[in-house]
Amino acid sequence: MTPLDTTELIRMLQAAARDEHAAIIQYLRHAYLMGEGELAGEIEGIAREEMRHFWILSRWIVRLGGDTDTDRGFTDLAGDAVPDWMGRDVAAEDRAIAMYEEYLTRIEDPDLRDDIAYILADERRHRDDFAHFVEKTEQEPPGEADEPAAPLAAIDREALDWGVQHEYGALLQYLVHSFEMMDLDEEVSSQLLMQAINEMQHMGWFGEELAESGLEMPLTHPPLELPAAPTDKLQVNIRQEQETAAQYARYLPQIADPGVKGVLDDARGQELYHEALFKRLLKRVETSHPEPPPASVPAPTSKVWTIGTLKKKE
Ligand SMILES: [Fe+2]
Ligand SMILES: [Fe+2]
Ligand SMILES: [Fe+2]
Ligand SMILES: [Fe+2]
Repeated sequence: MTPLDTTELIRMLQAAARDEHAAIIQYLRHAYLMGEGELAGEIEGIAREEMRHFWILSRWIVRLGGDTDTDRGFTDLAGDAVPDWMGRDVAAEDRAIAMYEEYLTRIEDPDLRDDIAYILADERRHRDDFAHFVEKTEQEPPGEADEPAAPLAAIDREALDWGVQHEYGALLQYLVHSFEMMDLDEEVSSQLLMQAINEMQHMGWFGEELAESGLEMPLTHPPLELPAAPTDKLQVNIRQEQETAAQYARYLPQIADPGVKGVLDDARGQELYHEALFKRLLKRVETSHPEPPPASVPAPTSKVWTIGTLKKKE
């Protein structure tokens, strides 16, 4: 076995992170297309576990000195019936299982091996779950076809499209900020992770509204803002929450469909909560981890340590 160098290891972890990202989106799309129900809920739960995998792998990448990869790998968007989608999800899990099994033959770091083995066990369980969902949905008699929903007004569709894309961006951005801030402040990191999950729910509300009217949800997001400084991270998030809440407020009086209006208003309320929460977190980071003064300005407490002063301390 040739030993892995760090560059190669980072490259492998980045490939895995791209696939986890793809799994999140593939499964969420299937759950939203299915609408509300027990099975959709279970699939959304699996997507949340893929989010955790993405988080774990990305944290390793950062720790090893690599760059976070927010590109999405192959996402299977084909198929037009539930058993077919579930079969494609089995195939995605099979690909993940084969990849992680291969990684375990090459990776030596015991802590990383533990994390990969944990993820691999999840993927094997997911595979069985999806295989079971194929059987279950194949046996089900085709239910009464849903009443086709009235076509959405153009502005309703525009608002939902805008919303899905911005929620997707927020979800990804907060995930990245979360694992990048883990070493600095666990409280801030876990709050960011929780709000990433909350944005995923918003994406679901909007995606389901689109699916009810037979429309696809867009699977692109605006460019992510990933500044290095912790306070800058929180500041861009605060600004984005303000902009998103304001955009939803602009759409609201124009929306025709009461269901669309309801989810848009609920999301707007939660964005305002996020804004207030991020302001609180910003204060916390500013007080506990003040930014170092710019290099050109001498720090007021700077002292020159000499052997003599060090010796006096002993
Ligand atoms: Fe995964
Ligand atoms: Fe999985
Ligand atoms: Fe949101
Ligand atoms: Fe938000």
